[in-house]
Amino acid sequence: MSDSSTDPPFRLARLIILILVGAIVVLGFAVIGLVIGRAAAPAADERVDALAASTDECVVCHRRATPGIVEQFGHSTMAGAEVICQDCHQVEPSYPGATEHEGYQVLAQPTTAKCQRCHEQSRHSLPAYVAFAGSGGLDESLLAKYGAIPEGGFNPDRLSERNALFALEGEAVTEFACVRCHSIGRPAADGSVGDCTKCHLRHEFSLEQARKPETCNACHIGPDHPQYEIYVESPHGIAYHTGGDRWNWSADSGTLTVNDFPAATCAICHMSGFGTSGTTHDVGARLTWYLFAPVSERRPAWQDNQARMQGVCLECHNRAFVDDFYAAANRATLAVNDWVEESEQIVQPLSDQGLLTDAPFDEPFDFVYFELWHHWGRTAKFGAWMQGPDYTQWHGAYEVLSDLAELQALTAEKLATAGGGE
Ligand code: HEC
Ligand code: HEC
Ligand code: HEC
Ligand code: HEC
Ligand code: HEC
Ligand code: HEC
Ligand code: HEC
Ligand code: HEC
Repeated sequence: MSDSSTDPPFRLARLIILILVGAIVVLGFAVIGLVIGRAAAPAADERVDALAASTDECVVCHRRATPGIVEQFGHSTMAGAEVICQDCHQVEPSYPGATEHEGYQVLAQPTTAKCQRCHEQSRHSLPAYVAFAGSGGLDESLLAKYGAIPEGGFNPDRLSERNALFALEGEAVTEFACVRCHSIGRPAADGSVGDCTKCHLRHEFSLEQARKPETCNACHIGPDHPQYEIYVESPHGIAYHTGGDRWNWSADSGTLTVNDFPAATCAICHMSGFGTSGTTHDVGARLTWYLFAPVSERRPAWQDNQARMQGVCLECHNRAFVDDFYAAANRATLAVNDWVEESEQIVQPLSDQGLLTDAPFDEPFDFVYFELWHHWGRTAKFGAWMQGPDYTQWHGAYEVLSDLAELQALTAEKLATAGGGE
């Protein structure tokens, strides 16, 4: 049997193929080498340890006592800018919470007041605390501070049902529930408010970490405010989850463009300097509606807020697209308002005839009435505004309709029982 590949023309072809394959293999190794080299190079010089040569007493001793903390802080931008342990930890002996430590007076948990010597405040403040504790416990200066936040003007004492839930569940549980999330706005013993470290984990204080949606996920999740779940489902979230590892997470603040972030994150839309909108820690500054309210109203100065949010969208979308989107989302918000108002009308005869129990959350009726707006109505609105169709539909609108039907049945039953008893 003759092997045709040994014929002269085939031998030449085989030689050419061998040379080509050889060249590809060599090139392949060269490319892999380059890629590895490139990946390794920045990792080596990027993480400069600003404390490497420090003779500061805290640093020297803590390199042994708590090496992780010194390591993390040493690599932070703040350490690079010559911020030292004492800037956050050292206080006068009379300072609330001060403890004696190795000849110094220190705060074990520096408050926001320490950060605010050098940085501005955050709007994740008193409204978050008042939301579960009420405004009753605030002294005059804190009340004034609270009053100065226009977005706090939506009277949270009106939403007394949730404060009732706080009391009903009791401290043993709420310490691990409401308090964990809402302490982002809790006042401290020194009168300062809020907790920067809920978003800026110590001691790296890295922009990359604060900017990632997972940071917001600590609190903005669950049936009553599923912003994270909605984001995951949205085209912006898909872009983040499929390509986000290539985005420029540590770019300087205030200079971000679509080249750094080709799609939006929570921080881009609500906080980052992007397009015509400057960096802000006032997360109310770009919002048009009080979406968390049972029946949503527009915020004071909503036109300015809307312009700021749209300034972000317009960096990636055109004017007509954004205007159409806002018109449609406004219509969806008003449609949900109508449903919540309908639920008020359904139960009206019960309060007219004194057939509702005084105690909150003591009968199934209370839960249906509450969840209708607090879970499903809000979720439908959030889903519309942040592009999560499954949340607008099956975790939102559908559940509202289902609860409206149930409310109707429960109300009829109560009226019938009351009528029969007369
Ligand atoms: C001679 C060693 C030494 C020096 C100097 C020192 N520390 Fe400490 N520090 C320690 C040790 C040990 C602990 C306990 C660590 C542990 O619990 O694992 C500690 C704990 C702390 C804590 C936590 C306190 C608490 O109650 O939880 C803080 C905050 C702290 N140090 C800050 C500082 C600062 C700021 C300085 C400089 C002004 C400093 N330390 C100087 C050894 C030292
Ligand atoms: C920019 C402010 C800042 C700087 C600078 C800073 N810390 Fe802290 N540190 C904090 C905050 C905020 C906390 C508490 C976070 C919390 O509430 O849990 C903390 C907590 C600690 C704790 C207690 C940790 C624990 O788990 O109990 C130690 C110890 C500590 N810091 C040591 C240091 C040392 C040492 C340095 C300098 C190398 C330093 N810190 C620099 C802000 C700072
Ligand atoms: C003594 C002044 C001072 C104090 C106190 C201070 N900072 Fe800073 N902080 C700075 C400086 C300076 C920078 C660097 C600014 C720059 O280079 O852009 C900075 C940068 C930062 C950054 C940006 C980091 C980055 O990678 O760009 C964050 C976040 C931050 N600080 C958070 C905090 C928090 C939270 C506290 C309180 C726990 C705090 N700072 C306390 C001075 C301070
Ligand atoms: C998982 C974190 C988390 C837990 C637990 C939590 N909340 Fe909230 N809460 C939030 C977030 C986030 C918002 C903002 C929602 C929005 O604006 O869409 C909020 C909003 C609110 C609001 C409306 C906002 C305002 O300013 O009035 C009230 C009232 C409230 N929560 C009370 C409570 C009470 C009471 C509990 C416990 C029974 C509780 N929350 C448990 C995260 C939480
Ligand atoms: C809700 C989460 C959140 C809270 C709370 C928060 N930050 Fe930030 N912070 C961010 C995010 C996100 C960025 C990045 C903004 C961007 O993309 O440029 C940032 C950026 C910063 C920067 C760098 C940009 C600038 O404006 O100079 C500093 C400094 C800073 N934060 C300090 C603080 C301090 C101090 C507090 C408490 C008073 C605080 N932050 C509370 C999320 C938060
Ligand atoms: C530790 C919990 C916690 C974290 C982390 C957190 N938030 Fe919040 N956020 C809250 C609470 C509680 C409220 C409600 C406070 C209020 O009514 O003002 C809130 C309110 C908001 C609001 C609505 C403000 C208004 O005026 O209605 C926005 C927008 C927001 N957060 C965005 C973010 C973003 C973006 C992040 C991540 C960078 C983030 N939050 C991280 C707890 C948190
Ligand atoms: C594409 C931009 C965009 C992204 C991404 C985005 N949001 Fe929003 N968000 C909006 C818009 C627009 C609204 C509705 C604002 C209004 O009232 O006009 C909104 C509403 C909210 C509200 C409701 C405030 C209220 O009135 O109750 C919260 C809280 C919030 N977003 C948090 C988040 C969090 C947390 C993430 C990430 C998990 C996120 N957002 C991602 C644009 C965005
Ligand atoms: C950094 C760029 C960027 C920003 C900022 C941004 N988007 Fe997007 N957006 C995208 C990308 C990328 C897509 C997915 C590709 C596409 O559909 O065009 C998208 C898709 C959308 C979609 C299509 C949703 C769907 O289901 O098909 C809507 C609606 C939208 N964005 C609204 C907004 C709004 C409103 C804002 C401002 C509050 C905003 N976007 C801000 C990049 C951005």
